[in-house]
Amino acid sequence: METKTLHFLSLIIISLISSSTSYSPTDNYLLNCGSATNTSLYNRVFVSDASRAGSFFLSADRSISLADQNPSPNSPALYHTARVFTTPSSYKFNIKKNGTHLVRFHFSPFAARGFNLSTAKFSVLVNGNVMLNDFSTQVVVLKEYIIKANDKMLEILLRPVGESGFGFISAIEVFSAPKDFIVDYGAKLVSADGIEEYQNLSLHVLETIHRINVGGSKLTAFNDTLWRTWIPDDDFLVLKTAAKRVATTHTPNYQSGGASPEIAPDNVYMTAQQMNKDNATLGARFNITWIFQWVRVMFDTWFACIL
Ligand SMILES: *[C@@H]1O[C@H](CO)[C@@H](O)[C@H](O)[C@H]1NC(C)=O
Ligand SMILES: *[C@@H]1O[C@H](CO)[C@@H](O)[C@H](O)[C@H]1NC(C)=O
Ligand SMILES: *[C@@H]1O[C@H](CO)[C@@H](O)[C@H](O)[C@H]1NC(C)=O
Ligand SMILES: *[C@@H]1O[C@H](CO)[C@@H](O)[C@H](O)[C@H]1NC(C)=O
Ligand SMILES: *[C@@H]1O[C@H](CO)[C@@H](O)[C@H](O)[C@H]1NC(C)=O
Ligand SMILES: *[C@@H]1O[C@H](CO)[C@@H](O)[C@H](O)[C@H]1NC(C)=O
Ligand SMILES: *[C@@H]1O[C@H](CO)[C@@H](O)[C@H](O)[C@H]1NC(C)=O
Repeated sequence: METKTLHFLSLIIISLISSSTSYSPTDNYLLNCGSATNTSLYNRVFVSDASRAGSFFLSADRSISLADQNPSPNSPALYHTARVFTTPSSYKFNIKKNGTHLVRFHFSPFAARGFNLSTAKFSVLVNGNVMLNDFSTQVVVLKEYIIKANDKMLEILLRPVGESGFGFISAIEVFSAPKDFIVDYGAKLVSADGIEEYQNLSLHVLETIHRINVGGSKLTAFNDTLWRTWIPDDDFLVLKTAAKRVATTHTPNYQSGGASPEIAPDNVYMTAQQMNKDNATLGARFNITWIFQWVRVMFDTWFACIL
């Protein structure tokens, strides 16, 4: 009985420690769009976008709140509602702390009340930068952007394409990035002309395309310090047998000024691929190659690949 109580207590202490060390952003807006209620996902509360709680404003005279009458049983409650826009409309967020912010858009299409969200077509702008142009989706999509906020206000504008067009959104996240999330010095630009330092990366709008846990397994928002999803690198390896997974059981010893648990969670640092020298059938000279497909489509919008 006594040992049980002790175990219980130590569990509580461990969870108190881990929650007190977890990252808490200065600006932290999580919106459940088109819903009158708050809902949580991975222990984060997404508040109704119709509420006037907090410091955000929705300017949409003719927007419609839509609820999925037939949600698939394993989809989170956050994805059971959406706000539909038939005219250009915006969300405005008060920014308390200048600097790099993460902006995420969740789109989960369904059909209700004469709107088939799979047929929606719209553009999304953040502070005037086009993030999504003539966007449309038939599957659940999460888009993530990294943007420097220098004004007191951050504006997200949804603009339907065409006369009878409409747009929709299921959830929005706007939160302050941790310190040194994007470094301005030290990033390398590799081009045909050689390698040079690429300065002021944080001044550009970045989109996350792939977030890869090299040599490791898939990590979900549940495992990550910034509620990100990391996928394994296997599908990007040109020659899988050239690489060999390695892992450590030791958690990283973070030094101040260097990498931090917010840049990537422990599990990402604890796995790697090493050159598979053991494979005698490969020549003495070989390389590990990953191929990623990158497309640059928008003015002043760069794509980041975080390895
Ligand atoms: C939703 O959460 C916000 C912020 O925590 C709170 O002010 C509001 O009362 C909540 N609304 C409902 C309907 O529970
Ligand atoms: C919604 O539109 C998509 C794409 O056009 C189509 O495949 C789907 O059947 C439509 N759903 C309904 C309920 O009409
Ligand atoms: C944020 O940056 C803007 C423009 O650089 C400046 O006018 C404003 O005072 C800054 N706000 C804070 C809180 O530092
Ligand atoms: C980077 O930004 C700083 C301050 O905004 C500026 O002085 C410098 O010229 C910029 N460097 C490049 C390479 O653009
Ligand atoms: C990540 O979280 C999932 C539950 O969502 C769990 O099954 C898995 O073991 C976790 N992975 C790691 C590496 O912590
Ligand atoms: C070595 O490489 C060959 C050719 O790519 C592959 O068929 C074989 O499975 C590899 N062996 C090991 C132990 O990885
Ligand atoms: C790296 O390995 C790939 C696959 O074996 C090969 O196609 C490519 O030519 C190699 N590149 C270099 C620079 O050695």
